[in-house]
Amino acid sequence: MCGIVGAVAERNISAILLEGLKRLEYRGYDSAGIAVLDAAGQLQRLRRSGKVAELESAQRTAELTGRLGIAHTRWATHGAPCERNAHPHFSGDDLAVVHNGIIENHEALRAQLKALGYSFASDTDTEVIVHLLKHKLGEFGDLTVALKSAVKELHGAYGLAVISAKQPDRLLAARSGSPLVIGLGLGENFLASDQLALRQVTDRFMYLEEGDIAEIRRDSVQIWDVDGQPVQRESVQYHEGAEAADKGEYRHFMLKEIHEQPKVVQRTLEGRLGDSQVLVQAFGPQAAELFAKVRNVQIVACGTSYHAGMVARYWLEELAGIPCQVEVASEFRYRKVVVQPDTLFVTISQSGETADTLAALRNAKQLGYLASLAICNVGISSLVRESDLCLLTQAGPEIGVASTKAFTTQLVGLMLLTLALGQVRGTLAAATEADLVAELRRLPTRLGEALAMDATVEKIAEHFAEKHHTLFLGRGAQYPVAMEGALKLKEISYIHAEAYPAGELKHGPLALVDADMPVVTVAPNNELLEKLKSNLQEVRARGGELIVFADGAAEMENGEGTYVVNMPHIHDALAPILYTLPLQLLSYYVAVLRGTDVDQPRNLAKSVTVE
Ligand code: M6R
Repeated sequence: MCGIVGAVAERNISAILLEGLKRLEYRGYDSAGIAVLDAAGQLQRLRRSGKVAELESAQRTAELTGRLGIAHTRWATHGAPCERNAHPHFSGDDLAVVHNGIIENHEALRAQLKALGYSFASDTDTEVIVHLLKHKLGEFGDLTVALKSAVKELHGAYGLAVISAKQPDRLLAARSGSPLVIGLGLGENFLASDQLALRQVTDRFMYLEEGDIAEIRRDSVQIWDVDGQPVQRESVQYHEGAEAADKGEYRHFMLKEIHEQPKVVQRTLEGRLGDSQVLVQAFGPQAAELFAKVRNVQIVACGTSYHAGMVARYWLEELAGIPCQVEVASEFRYRKVVVQPDTLFVTISQSGETADTLAALRNAKQLGYLASLAICNVGISSLVRESDLCLLTQAGPEIGVASTKAFTTQLVGLMLLTLALGQVRGTLAAATEADLVAELRRLPTRLGEALAMDATVEKIAEHFAEKHHTLFLGRGAQYPVAMEGALKLKEISYIHAEAYPAGELKHGPLALVDADMPVVTVAPNNELLEKLKSNLQEVRARGGELIVFADGAAEMENGEGTYVVNMPHIHDALAPILYTLPLQLLSYYVAVLRGTDVDQPRNLAKSVTVE
């Protein structure tokens, strides 16, 4: 999704803006641009479609320098991904705006502004903002006052950064539905849509809240809230090492993040396990009281996070005896929902800024749920702030667009939730909980063992490099793991992949199976194993090639057209977490063989902050 960086300083800020854009590249984008106020007091702009590297090389030639500037990476929504539509957008030659989000009433505003004599140079919704602001500037004379008035006419979502050649002492920001953070320096200040963009220049941040407008000068920051009242926002020191945004020894962020899983799963467990019980207060001080009342769980999420929710449904019903429904947020938010009494509303999200998930939470608040709980990787996100309870996963920044460590840490969080609900409601035997707590402690080691199979999986990936279609099969809680494996493969290798519960094969998809359709299966040693083996025979009988990730005790053997990878043994309840790893590695190595852009796959964004 789009990214914003801005700066007001005593030094040249071009390199800071470009470095900020590079750090936001992981979010996905298709064009980039920068505008700075030069020494002669003129706004200079450069825009390029494609990568930030192209903008950077154009900037080297143009030698754009200045002490006040804004920059943007655009992920096209209104208008094609081309230079003309890239931000910053100008009104005249003295006012520039960059924008994240979508202005829903852009057509009406465009018509009004055209009638007032403004002409449009792009197809974007953003351009209405800059002309509207110019119009207000004519009316009020002061940029801050003009912005406060202009935003009242915008419907939709926006994170805005604004600069003007006429008032070169300030950088303005406005937030509604699209996050913005101010980076605080010494005699210089910065703005970005994600603090990651600014960690090169500061570790002190101030997060804008919904409806805030900020006037950022070199040595001061003034903020007004949604009612136009001056407010102070707390400044916070960020501690995560800046190296988190580096690939280190790895070729791609995705591979680094896959290999970080033992460590981040360990971190997600830290402080949340007692000797033989989950510590319920890990979900917040009111958790024990609320959990005792829970009779149903409704989970809502998108993409990979939705798959985590699908796994949790098996756990919550089987281990904690709680009825659970799971739904993708984009459907839930527009559906007329019948809410069962005492239902806990659970959202799952890596970013905590996914537009559909946030909208679903906001709707749910009107529907009479018992309480809301966010399982999220970003503590300062809108989702966490707006939920009653939260459990933060400790995956650290995830840069690869394809979610990996966020998924496994979400699963850990959801297993903790299952055990906590079972414990508080008395539906889970103490011995079972103690057993699972001990297994959770061993999980990081098991994950390390699974990752040691990296080279084996790399070899298997060769079977896929020339293929166009793949099936993923699983039964029980491994079915959502198969779904996640299929999503990973299509996201980064662009191979069409579908997941099925293995028992469904004969009801249709078996017709697709032939020698060109590899079938990937996850086969832990559980009560469904024999049934799964029969399903696999159905594939082999049609000439389909099988790749099976199986428990050693499952006694499955390599044979013609069958490649078995023996997995470390694990408690069946935790198998979905372990069996995810080889599927992530498989997608990664297939994508590398096919030469795709692994960390920033085409058409995708890391954080989907628009509908
Ligand atoms: O930040 P979220 O977890 O809310 O994001 C949800 C999805 O957009 C995300 O999981 C997406 O499906 C990933 N690209 C999957 O790898």
